[in-house]
Amino acid sequence: MARNRVLSGMQPSGLLHLGNLLGALENWKALQEQYDCFFFVADWHALSTNYEDTSRIKEFTRELVIDWLAAGLDPQRSTLFVQSRNPDHAILHLLLSMIVPIPWLERNPTYKEKREEIKERDLSTYGFLGYPVLQAADILLYKPDYVPVGKDQLPHLELTREIARRFNSLYRPVFPEPKEHLTKFPKVLGTDGRKMSKSYGNTINLSDPEPVVRQKLKTMITDPARVKRTDKGNPDVCPVFDFHKIFSTQAVIDRVNKECRTAEIGCIDCKALVADKIVERLTPIWEGRARLTAKPEQVEEIVRQGTQRAQAVSHQTLEEVKETLKI
Ligand code: TRP
Ligand code: SF4
Repeated sequence: MARNRVLSGMQPSGLLHLGNLLGALENWKALQEQYDCFFFVADWHALSTNYEDTSRIKEFTRELVIDWLAAGLDPQRSTLFVQSRNPDHAILHLLLSMIVPIPWLERNPTYKEKREEIKERDLSTYGFLGYPVLQAADILLYKPDYVPVGKDQLPHLELTREIARRFNSLYRPVFPEPKEHLTKFPKVLGTDGRKMSKSYGNTINLSDPEPVVRQKLKTMITDPARVKRTDKGNPDVCPVFDFHKIFSTQAVIDRVNKECRTAEIGCIDCKALVADKIVERLTPIWEGRARLTAKPEQVEEIVRQGTQRAQAVSHQTLEEVKETLKI
């Protein structure tokens, strides 16, 4: 029996951190048990905001694949590939661009927000406006049933469905409309108490060695009202406690919840407890990363085979599209 298909992508715009692991990656890992999964590195998408400095995209692409494998994506079950190695994405992007009205792109909330947010770069480019058309091509080439994404990507997915509908109604039904598969995991906070994000510089990366992880936790912000060891704290406003809730056993969570309020436990000890747990969680990933980093040819072979498998599917869709367009 054919399994339902899932497709998703990540941009290689930095190193993966705990927030990415618990948000996207754990979800992907669970999906590969049940679905025929396609996961790819969206390196052309990284160009849309980083076109001025492309120096690290290749390195981040390699590291991303290593992180995926080390975290447990299984290349036997999931098709792992790199967007720029399958030119079908560019071809479908071009063909779709012919039928996408510019106002659809201009009113895309992500487009407006990002342009506001990233003031230091000139994003008044054709490629940045067309970002969701490329994403629609990424998705529609594989006719997936589900696309696992975070909430921030919902406007892009809606646009993908609108583009599919427009194509289907202009010519003939070629593209099924993909549904979202939302990631449920709560926001992971960074070392400064804000959402963990590489743009804030508050991340714990999967590639951070153990001493770095421990050091980052040591300097992590706590309940700001707890200045002295004898001050009573409030774990509900402390991001370290959020880590406990994710990584610690219920017994330790209960203990910290009580002993922080009475100043029985100090922040240094409290942080050491959770650091041990995070180190425990990351150790197999570090081992996997070390193994794969030592064997670049093995990673290359996985990407090569994945790209080939992806192309077998995307070629078929593209043939259908060309036939439909009589081109
Ligand atoms: N835009 C997505 C992000 O920034 C990455 C992406 C590109 C993607 N193409 C995709 C996600 C196709 C899902 C499907 O996270
Ligand atoms: Fe936060 Fe733990 Fe310190 Fe309480 S004891 S303020 S939970 S770090």
